Amino acid sequence: MNALSTVHFYDQDIELDDFSNEILAGLSKPQKTLPPKFFYDERGSQLFTEITRQPEYYPTRTETKLLSDHAGEISELIGEDFLLIEYGSGSSEKIRILLDSLRPSLYAPLDISRDYLAWAAEALGREYPWLEVHATCVDFTVEFELPFESEKRHVSFFPGSSIGNFERGEAAAFLGRIRSLVGADGGLLIGVDMKKDVGVLNDAYNDKRGITADFNLNILEHINREYGADFNLSQFTHEAGYDVEQGCIQMFLVSTCCQSVSVAGRDFEFAEGEKIHTENSHKYNVDEVLEMAVGAGFLKAKTWLDEDELFGVFYLYSQ
Ligand code: AVI
Repeated sequence: MNALSTVHFYDQDIELDDFSNEILAGLSKPQKTLPPKFFYDERGSQLFTEITRQPEYYPTRTETKLLSDHAGEISELIGEDFLLIEYGSGSSEKIRILLDSLRPSLYAPLDISRDYLAWAAEALGREYPWLEVHATCVDFTVEFELPFESEKRHVSFFPGSSIGNFERGEAAAFLGRIRSLVGADGGLLIGVDMKKDVGVLNDAYNDKRGITADFNLNILEHINREYGADFNLSQFTHEAGYDVEQGCIQMFLVSTCCQSVSVAGRDFEFAEGEKIHTENSHKYNVDEVLEMAVGAGFLKAKTWLDEDELFGVFYLYSQ
């Protein structure tokens, strides 16, 4: 652990071998897949921040407005003297909207992108000298334990509709794990992207500047660099579209020719037009979120929606 003024950094020693196996297993399936967590190397995290600034990508600005419009009410519901754990904190931009109202005793950002997390945690520590920051580099999509102890009440923050990147059953199980972590006197503040007009959804994942396409392709760059692969990025293109039946945006990389790619010493053949599935982004309606929350063990919920009902912020709690 390195102590940098009020910022502590913990590294959960993510096993590169396990990750290699996950990549190889995904590419060996009849429908080749790559888990979306591999988007988030340093460049991927920066590209995602850039996506959130694109005019077509409404979720971030809509959620940001909801959080700032209701910061006072959110803070009253959450109460005082608590540990705030943020899942997938990235640049820690959203928590800045709430910090002055919430005034948590400790803030624990969790993220898979080590360097980006360290940079963001230090910047936050400099900006908020009163805040004790405990940053942890961890793959929170699998079971983990916080690397430090705190007697404080636990409240989790999971913004950005990242819950949508889990399959529906996994999302329910993940909420159950958060409920166990925060206990009966804690809560979860979560942002969820709502089901809506298909055109609006498709545009959000096909921005005109091609930032989402760069973000999608960067997964291959990341795997080339860290896991000994030789994907030729100019031979894959970005594809994203909403599947109404499944209620999700599906994102793919499409091979533009017949080609062979070596990954960690194994060869994978691609036909022209063959796709690698890189991400699902599930969309929910309010009832679906509340049903999932009850299934996870939360007993009460407060919901805030924007006037166009594009996005929802929910505080789920038990007391
Ligand atoms: C992080 N996550 C919620 C984003 C989403 O909208 O599913 C990731 C993303 N993929 C493409 N654009 C944004």
